[in-house]
Amino acid sequence: MGESIKGLKRTHMCGELTSQNVGEDVVLMGWVQRRRDLGGLIFVTLRDRTGIIQLVFDQDDSNDLFNKAATLRSEYVIACRGQVINRAPEAINPNMATGEIEVKAEELRVLSKSETPPFYIEDNTNVSEALRYKYRYLDLRRPEMQRNLMIRHKIASQVRNFLNERGFLEIETPMLTKSTPEGARDYLVPSRVHPGKFYALPQSPQLFKQLLMLAGYDRYYQIVRCFRDEDLRADRQPEFTQIDIEMSFVEVDDVLAINEALIAYIFKQVLDVDIPIPFKRMTYKEAMERYGSDKPDTRFGLELVDVSSFVANSEFKVFSGAVKKGGSVRAINAKGAGAKFSRRDIDSLGEFVKTYRAKGLAWINVTPEGVKSPIAKFLSQEELNEILNQLNAEPGDLLLFIADENEVVFQALGQLRLELARRLDIVPKDEYNLLWITEFPLFEYDQEEGRYVAKHHPFTSPMDEDLHLLESEPEKVRAKAYDMVLNGNEIGGGSIRIHDISLQERMFKALGFTMENAWEQFGFLLEAFKFGAPPHGGIAYGLDRIAALLAGKTSIRDVIAFPKVQNASDLMTNAPSFVDEKQLNELHISVDKKIENKDV
Ligand code: AMO
Ligand code: AMP
Repeated sequence: MGESIKGLKRTHMCGELTSQNVGEDVVLMGWVQRRRDLGGLIFVTLRDRTGIIQLVFDQDDSNDLFNKAATLRSEYVIACRGQVINRAPEAINPNMATGEIEVKAEELRVLSKSETPPFYIEDNTNVSEALRYKYRYLDLRRPEMQRNLMIRHKIASQVRNFLNERGFLEIETPMLTKSTPEGARDYLVPSRVHPGKFYALPQSPQLFKQLLMLAGYDRYYQIVRCFRDEDLRADRQPEFTQIDIEMSFVEVDDVLAINEALIAYIFKQVLDVDIPIPFKRMTYKEAMERYGSDKPDTRFGLELVDVSSFVANSEFKVFSGAVKKGGSVRAINAKGAGAKFSRRDIDSLGEFVKTYRAKGLAWINVTPEGVKSPIAKFLSQEELNEILNQLNAEPGDLLLFIADENEVVFQALGQLRLELARRLDIVPKDEYNLLWITEFPLFEYDQEEGRYVAKHHPFTSPMDEDLHLLESEPEKVRAKAYDMVLNGNEIGGGSIRIHDISLQERMFKALGFTMENAWEQFGFLLEAFKFGAPPHGGIAYGLDRIAALLAGKTSIRDVIAFPKVQNASDLMTNAPSFVDEKQLNELHISVDKKIENKDV
């Protein structure tokens, strides 16, 4: 059994000690990082979440103490009393924050022992993800993970500071609720009291924050868990955290202004980086046309160029055919890539765009000796000249073309643009490019459902100038919706909401709802609109995404203490799991026996 700490009080954290403390008696508690035996001396590095410090056990001081220290192993939890002393000049370790000092041990207690951990606790380990997540509590001991979670904490607390100072109220909304309309699958929770009925975990607090505006709680925020049953990616978890904000009596500009100030404040407080305000704004249309993406990474060029008009009548049917069918031909000038990429590299780019449904990738290599291209022979000299001119082609450049329906052209070229930037290594590091994407389409056509669906959610207000198109040409209606984009990542999104019941009803009709349907699903909100609704709007950020970007991580799992892996399971607790027959019976649920036996 471990010894107790009775009579010992921790005086300092390991990483806090400096040469200022030399001469002081201290009591430290933490984990053994490492023990080194050097003849009559034992060195132990002790770790807590602030850092590490070296303890020295000298055989000449006490044989008993020395022998006890000799039993220490990695990850033992110990308490040590001793005196802070300067290290001899030759023993100073400049790579260690506390490398100028050490603690000469006078008392040692082993509070708990440790088996040999499945991996050594240090940064830059090559441990498999599976092992890291199974032993997440060990993984979280690594300094890097601790730093990530501290950054996350700092962001959350600075958000609270900023919003509290500006009169925002933090109000909680239910977790056991009704399905909310963010467009993903719901996580359902069966009700024991109401057999056969289910709660849905919220995909966002959207409806509740709107109801809070209707209730007069102008300026609401919440740092809140949201649940969406969707395929996981590096930037997607089934449960994630939003910084959710809503305000009354505001228009788009008001919401954008306070949010720019908020984000700039976070960058200053957390990274000491100055972000210029106001942010750039770009309409959705411009973003798609220039970058093929509604979350463009604007840290580098490689913009898309529309060459449709120059090839509309070309002999090259791949090009002219796409234009005739209402699509387009667009290109990227990969500056300098012609001189760098081999034929095989170019072929691999062709394979790359096929994963985004492009049928092919036409290319022109501009060399000092003239153009080399499998399609040049299909183009007239005039067409070729127009293209080279339009793309500012110079020797060494590689021009890459996709002809297709616009949706495919944008997606494939948008992704190709990112891939080219990676391969050409032209993405600036340590640069934070923030911008707003505005004027999103209100609707998008859902092929599967065969109807229009809300691009944001059904409570998003159309732009006033497009209202008259709501019934006649819904695809042309733009929304008072905006996303905040950081270095090509969507970190937040929101909108001005509809606050007029008749407009909301028109919206539901356009979405193909019958009024009975709409009332059944959202009746409580529609009802509330009858009793005085203020104009309102807001935004929600992905806190996990912001934290990952500020911590310099590519996956949000690195800033979540206990994340899920790819297949939405938790390797540590083994959730989700089968439950007792008794529990199921109480819930009036039966599970297909075939499923249980297979453990799919
Ligand atoms: P939206 O659905 O755009 O808007 O979500 C807001 C932000 O949340 C983050 N996010 C996610 N992060 C991690 N994992 C996920 N699965 C995930 N899904 C979304 C993104 C996104 O920008 N109610 C509206 C907001 C509003 O209109 O005010 C909403 O939820 O960074
Ligand atoms: P093909 O005539 O099909 O052999 O195509 C000639 C060239 O055009 C090849 O380099 C193809 O990769 C390219 N190509 C084919 N389809 C498309 C397309 N939809 N967009 C751009 N290039 C294409």
